[in-house]
Amino acid sequence: MAAVEDFFSRDGAFSIGGAGLEAVLAANSTPLYAYSADLIDSAYASVKRCFPGFDIAYSLKANPALAICSRLRSLGAGADVSSMGELQTALRAGFDARDIFFVGPAKSEAEISLAVRTGIYAVIVESARELALVGACAGRLSRRQRVLLRINTAEPQTSPEVMVGGPSKFGFDEETVVNEVRGIDHPGIDIVGVQVYAASQVLEAGLIYAHMEYVLGLALRLADEAGFRLECIDFGGGFGVPYADDERDLDIAAVSKRANKLMGKHAGRLGGCRLVFELGRYLVARSGVFLTRVVGVKESRGRRFVLTDGGMNAFSRPVFMGVRHPVRLVNKMGAPAEEEYDVCGPICTPIDCIGRGVKLPRVEPGDVVGVFNAGAYGYTMSLMNFMSLPWPAEVMVENGRVETIRRPRPAAAALDDQVIPG
Ligand SMILES: Cc1ncc(COP(=O)(O)O)c(C=O)c1O
Repeated sequence: MAAVEDFFSRDGAFSIGGAGLEAVLAANSTPLYAYSADLIDSAYASVKRCFPGFDIAYSLKANPALAICSRLRSLGAGADVSSMGELQTALRAGFDARDIFFVGPAKSEAEISLAVRTGIYAVIVESARELALVGACAGRLSRRQRVLLRINTAEPQTSPEVMVGGPSKFGFDEETVVNEVRGIDHPGIDIVGVQVYAASQVLEAGLIYAHMEYVLGLALRLADEAGFRLECIDFGGGFGVPYADDERDLDIAAVSKRANKLMGKHAGRLGGCRLVFELGRYLVARSGVFLTRVVGVKESRGRRFVLTDGGMNAFSRPVFMGVRHPVRLVNKMGAPAEEEYDVCGPICTPIDCIGRGVKLPRVEPGDVVGVFNAGAYGYTMSLMNFMSLPWPAEVMVENGRVETIRRPRPAAAALDDQVIPG
C-alpha cells in the first residue's frame, strides 16, 4: 500500500507529524513540501531492525535537505554522496568522514581531491581512470585512500530500473575488472572491497536477496583473484517503495531472514568486514507530501482539469519518470472520491500533469491537493527554474511543530545572479 494512510488523524482529517493542514500551511504558501520526522525515523529503524549487522549509508541524492541528512545522521546512518555539493552537505550535516562513501561515474579531480583531503571512508571507483586519479591525488596529499571497486555485474535482473548487465557508464565490467586492477600497486590506494548498485525501486524481496548472494560471491572471488583484503562490501540496495495504489510493499524482513543467514554462513571470511547498503528512497520517500493549491477547475470536451499553483516545475517525478504517485484532496480527506480529474500545474506544456484520471471528491478553487510519497526525488529532482516561478519551501513536522527547513525562493532571486552586458 502507498503511504496515504500514514497521514490521517483519528477523525479522518489530514495530519502530518501531529499537525493539521492549517498548521502546515500557516508559515509558507503553496506549493510546499512537508516531511514527517517520525516517518523518517521509523523507516530507518525498520531497516536497522532487519539488518543489525549492516551499515546504512543515506543516499543524499534522494533528498539533500540538511535537516533530513542531519536527522538520519543522528539516527546512526552514514552518507552516500555523488558530488562535491553532496559531500559538503554531508559534512555540514555532521556525518563522520569515516562513514562517507563517494560514488558516481564522472568524478572530477576537484571532487576526488576534497574526498581524499576529508578522509572519507571510501571512494567508490568506477574505472581505471578514476583509480589512477585517486592514486595521484592521495600521493600528492601524502595520504592513503580506501577504494571500493564498483562492478557492472553480469547478474540476471528483471527489475524495471536496472543499471547492470549491459554496456554501462557505471563501474568496471565484471569480466575485465581483475585484469584492469591486478598489479596496481599505487602507494596511495588501498582496494578494500566492492560495490554493486544494480537497480532502483525493487519491490520484490527475492530479487534483492538474489543480488546480495551474487555480490557476496563476487566480492569473495575478486578479493582472491585481484589480491586485496576484503574489508567492505557495499551491496547498493535499490529498496523500493510502492507508489501507485496497487503496488505492494517490499518485504525487507523476508530479505533479511535469508540474507543474515547467508552472511552467517560466511562469517569466517566476513569477520571485521563492513557490510553496507546505500539507501535513499526507502528512508525518506514515504515521509513527504507535496502540497499544492487549486487555482481553478475547468471542463474541456468532456474532461475535467484541476489547475494547481505547483506542477512539474516544483515536482517533476510524475511527469518525467512516469511515476503514479497517490494524489488526494487533503482538505477533504474523508469525502467520497466521485469525479475523475486530470491534475495539472501552471507550466505551458500539456505534459505538466501530476495526476491523470485521478478520482477525487468534487474539487473547488482553494482546495489543497496532496501528492504522497514525495519525500524522495521530489524537490531535488525538479525543474525549479522553468517559467520563473517561485521555488517551494520545505517544512519538517514533529510532535505537532512545523519547522521551515528550507525557505521558499522568490522567482526574483534568480535575477540577482544575472547581468545585462554593457
Ligand atoms: C549508486 C547509487 N546509490 C544509491 C542510489 C539511491 O537509490 P534509492 O534512492 O533508490 O535507494 C542511487 C540512485 O540512483 C544510485 O545510483
